[in-house]
Amino acid sequence: MRIFAHRGASGYAPQNSLGAAKKAVDMGALAIEFDVQLSKDGVPVVIHDFFLDQLTVDGKGYVKDYTLKKLKEFRLKNIFHPAYSDEQIPTLEEFMSILPDKLLINVEIKTLLSDKRDIENKVVEVLKKFPQKNNLLISSFDHELLHRLHMKYPEYRIGMLTGTNIINALDYFKNTPIKAASVNLALDLVEENLVKELQNHGYKIFVYTVNDRDIALNLKKIGVDGIFSDYPDILSENFQSGKKL
Ligand code: G3P
Ligand code: MG
Repeated sequence: MRIFAHRGASGYAPQNSLGAAKKAVDMGALAIEFDVQLSKDGVPVVIHDFFLDQLTVDGKGYVKDYTLKKLKEFRLKNIFHPAYSDEQIPTLEEFMSILPDKLLINVEIKTLLSDKRDIENKVVEVLKKFPQKNNLLISSFDHELLHRLHMKYPEYRIGMLTGTNIINALDYFKNTPIKAASVNLALDLVEENLVKELQNHGYKIFVYTVNDRDIALNLKKIGVDGIFSDYPDILSENFQSGKKL
């Protein structure tokens, strides 16, 4: 079972920071996930929340309302090591540039339905600068966006993120016009039958967010293909969540 370092090694360093990416790599993670949105001037930046308030020391309001230059003035909140006190919001390009070539890289695209900009073009523009980093999965909760991406750039592997209960989930994923490689399921939605049926239909099943070792072991037993964890070492023998914080 693969373990994606969720927002980098976000249990050990500020989420989605370059420090969290480096920490994940240093810990030997073989896969990483991070979140991407657009700045006001259309630059893909790596940050989870649409608002700056919770994640930065000094930013307020929407990420999309600030130019990259302004976003770079904010500092990410740090509850970890002093070494991470000066972390800025990274651009997608900066983030990609420090990742090893063979790492499985899951770029999650965050969209607000009110923001009509074609973020997929901007993301792909950056990804194309790193042709050697081709172990990629692009995911999103926005399936319209994934469909557009799939039509324009069929060469990219896609993960369909799902966080809510869908009526006839099996039918939905069997009939979608997106040729996705994976269904990325919220932990609460995991049912062994659904997992098996989707796998039989050719999908990998990746589950988020799993920070409890026993749950991780159980998912492994069920046969899910991967999990997203803030602790890339969650399955190591001496993992003790919390004690390492
Ligand atoms: O991609 C898996 C997971 O990151 C999706 O949820 O809110 O943590 O981005 P979220
Ligand atoms: Mg994410």
